[in-house]
Amino acid sequence: MDAVSKTSPATAKLSVGEQSWDLPVLSGTIGPDVIDIGKLYGQTGMFTYDPGFTSTASCESQITYIDGDAGVLLYRGYPIEQLAENGDFLETCYLLLYGELPTAAQKADFDYRVTRHTMVHEQMSRFFHGFRRDAHPMAVMVASVGALSAFYHDSTDISDPQQRMIASIRMIAKMPTLAAMAYKYNIGQPFVYPQNDLDYASNFLRMCFSVPCEEYKANPILSRAIDRIFILHADHEQNASTSTVRLAGSSGANPFACVAAGIACLWGPAHGGANEAALKMLGEIGSVDRIPEFIKRAKDKNDPFRLMGFGHRVYKNYDPRAKIMQRTCHEVLGELGIKDDPLLDIAVELERIALQDEYFIERKLYPNIDFYSGITLRALGFPTSMFTVLFALARAVGWIGQWKEMIEDPGQRIGRPRQLYTGAAQRDYVPIARRK
Ligand code: SDX
Repeated sequence: MDAVSKTSPATAKLSVGEQSWDLPVLSGTIGPDVIDIGKLYGQTGMFTYDPGFTSTASCESQITYIDGDAGVLLYRGYPIEQLAENGDFLETCYLLLYGELPTAAQKADFDYRVTRHTMVHEQMSRFFHGFRRDAHPMAVMVASVGALSAFYHDSTDISDPQQRMIASIRMIAKMPTLAAMAYKYNIGQPFVYPQNDLDYASNFLRMCFSVPCEEYKANPILSRAIDRIFILHADHEQNASTSTVRLAGSSGANPFACVAAGIACLWGPAHGGANEAALKMLGEIGSVDRIPEFIKRAKDKNDPFRLMGFGHRVYKNYDPRAKIMQRTCHEVLGELGIKDDPLLDIAVELERIALQDEYFIERKLYPNIDFYSGITLRALGFPTSMFTVLFALARAVGWIGQWKEMIEDPGQRIGRPRQLYTGAAQRDYVPIARRK
């Protein structure tokens, strides 16, 4: 990636005591300018300090842009609403990887290439049988995606652009197969092979929900819904799991190992695990009349309880994905003839009450993508333990696209943050006999 950031005419002046330094300011296409502190330690002998990276841009990227105040999400400049409405997930994958929307011929070729990489090495099924049946599917995904580097040696040489693209295609193609295998293994049903004449989403639903004893017919409305859910989850700037993938990749680790690291990070309830936690929370609330009790707990500093699916580090407005997710939720429930889902009633009422509450308004806490996704995925037939697996399935393209962008950045170097040390100053060893 050729750096396209421009040095702004403005400079930032840093003064400490009598000394001062001019720091370059860089501007992107849209969004906040950045102060380039790459030479700060060499000039000043000081580090910056920003735990949680609330004010730190870790890289230059051209893939995804979020305007948190306006609630805008762009993939390569295209608004998420337009992509979710008009395209399919593989079109979004092509866009994220190549930077442009595909022509009809390019789309057909990309679909063909992905479809023909959906099978996994037959030995993988024996790998699965080493797990307990009740293993959490996310644990299985961390292991099985990492294990891909043990099977696909011909696409782990990251210096070869050909191999980088094959690895990217394999990642996108094999995630649904591994996710479906994790689900089937968990419920004790036989693995289902991918079928090349099905679209990506229908193929995934069939691998999850078909059984050898009867024909499976994908419902196009439900396939379209899960495909749209994948689009919503595909990429999201430098979130915790993407930053994990980039940091792992900066050491030269192979792409499968890097994505496995991203899956491990996504599992946390503050991140991708929030969809599973949000549904559990709605179940714990149990009825609309108990909402005030939980709102009170969410506001209580001494209570670790938080409203899962609410709040976001970047969005200080409604997460645009949550709106589309809510609409998709109603579509799926409607198609399945689920007239009133008590958890949906609780979610809608909880959102209404929270968005009128000073505590949430003041902190700009809105529903995020995880708030409605759990209800939708449960209605589609997935157990809560599979919710974050589906998030990882969709996010794999974002992870691999960001990894590829980093590897292809001529200025790329290993990520190695420093620290503010507040431990013991140097001291001498005391032999055990003399310790009190
Ligand atoms: C994802 O980064 C991404 O892009 C992630 C993601 C992606 O696509 O990759 O969008 C996916 O991870 C979505 C977020 C899913 N997580 C949850 O829904 C878990 C619940 N949300 C919170 O844990 C929290 O909002 C975070 C983790 C999402 C954001 O945390 P921040 O930015 O560190 O915010 P904070 O903890 O500093 O909160 C600011 C204030 C605090 O109150 P004060 O100390 O200022 O009084 O808001 C409060 C927090 O206590 N707060 C909440 C809250 N979230 C923040 N209070 C109650 N319930 C909540 N959910």
